[in-house]
Amino acid sequence: MKKVCIVGASGKLGKYMVQHCLSKGYEVVGVCREKSVHKLEAYKDKMTIIPGQTNDPEIIKKAVKNCDGVLTVLAPWGMQNYSSGTAGAVMEFAKKDARLIFSCGWHVTRDGKDVYSWQLKAVVKIIGGLVRLLRVVDLNDQVRACDNIFKSDTKWTVVRGSDLEEGESQGVPVWSQHVGDPILESNITRRTDFALFMVEALTNDELIHKAPAIVSCACESAKTHK
Ligand SMILES: NC(=O)c1ccc[n+]([C@@H]2O[C@H](COP(=O)([O-])OP(=O)(O)OC[C@H]3O[C@@H](n4cnc5c(N)ncnc54)[C@H](OP(=O)(O)O)[C@@H]3O)[C@@H](O)[C@H]2O)c1
Repeated sequence: MKKVCIVGASGKLGKYMVQHCLSKGYEVVGVCREKSVHKLEAYKDKMTIIPGQTNDPEIIKKAVKNCDGVLTVLAPWGMQNYSSGTAGAVMEFAKKDARLIFSCGWHVTRDGKDVYSWQLKAVVKIIGGLVRLLRVVDLNDQVRACDNIFKSDTKWTVVRGSDLEEGESQGVPVWSQHVGDPILESNITRRTDFALFMVEALTNDELIHKAPAIVSCACESAKTHK
């Protein structure tokens, strides 16, 4: 892995991924909205920044050129198919053998075998419905984006994040195939470690065509069920 593109580099997860990639010595290209370029000020001499909407095919085509890996933050903002447009452009323009790693939440299911708590179901239904009504966030578009990824023959991995918190790294998270598996019960991961898992996935071929649901390696359920 030499050159990596981070799509959504200026967000909270994106900035952690920038840090992890730079510390591994990767050449980094980041895409973020024009108005967010200032959030990458600290890294501007160490990476290439391409300002633009992440669902703009021309922007993505330029950004992923010659990249061995692409880390994409799937953000379900607005009602213009932002997530599915972003994922579609990445899959279309990345090199054929590039490793493509996408982020989303536990609510996305690949095979319908995930078992959700009533709390998670309620959050997705009530909050998801409310923000959709307000036309701010469209969680269904993140689901559509992932369905398209699951069907593709690219070298994809969809990393499904638990609830997140800030704080020092605790190490690479543990993962399981399905939400509801006992190891995931604590439902908490430090955001920096979510980013670390995404970056580690670039060079972990065991994760190709998998949708790992992750949790902190230091949480109770991970320690009990490891
Ligand atoms: N938050 C959680 O509790 C949680 C839990 C599980 C999984 N996840 C997943 O983790 C990933 C990162 O989520 P995060 O919550 O930590 O947020 P984040 O990293 O800050 O990412 C949000 C992204 O959305 C962009 N964005 C914000 N407002 C936008 C708008 N109006 N139009 C277009 N783009 C906009 C941000 O770009 P700018 O820098 O330009 O604003 C940023 O790239 C996502 O894939 C999410 O599904 C989150």
